[in-house]
Amino acid sequence: MKKINQICIVVFIITIIATGLTTHGWQCSEAFGDSSKTPFVQKSTPTSSLMRIINSHTAKMLEAIMVGDFNTVIKKSNDISKAGNAIMRMFFPEGKQVDQWFTEIGKDPDNPEAIKLMKDDFEKYSNAVIEASGNIAEIAKNKNIAETYESFEAMLKNACFACHEVSRAKK
Ligand code: HEC
Repeated sequence: MKKINQICIVVFIITIIATGLTTHGWQCSEAFGDSSKTPFVQKSTPTSSLMRIINSHTAKMLEAIMVGDFNTVIKKSNDISKAGNAIMRMFFPEGKQVDQWFTEIGKDPDNPEAIKLMKDDFEKYSNAVIEASGNIAEIAKNKNIAETYESFEAMLKNACFACHEVSRAKK
């Protein structure tokens, strides 16, 4: 009786594997995101790379807030400030034309007035990032997750999204 049970289980498992292979194939390409649709291609310009660095620090900061790792929150705040300090230099490089991000939002890189207006906004919002991340570090010292999260959200809203609102194409 026991033996028959074992055989039944083995046959059952083989049937499942065989069905899986015939319906999905060996490759399982869908599972790896390798579908026939146009893949999402990331840009690699100096400005988008800087933003991805800031974004990575920001994501790690949220993770640290969630688990209450306040030392990492403070460390990430420093990293964000450092990257924030590079914003003006990267987006308005001395003696060079502004990069493609500017034309992508329909602005003319040969119009000094348009550049001046955007530069003023960037000055304001890059300072907002530095200020907001400093504020997060201050609040993190109290070791209160909810309060620290609120200051994190304030940075996203008042610095990240506020700047994106004026400087990125709408999606
Ligand atoms: C001073 C303006 C400004 C601030 C502040 C700012 N961003 Fe950006 N961000 C931009 C611009 C402009 C782009 C588009 C860059 C490009 O296309 O080259 C961008 C692009 C991005 C991207 C897309 C990068 C990619 O793959 O193309 C991410 C993610 C991002 N920002 C995250 C953040 C986060 C997180 C913060 C806040 C901590 C932040 N940004 C603060 C202006 C800003």
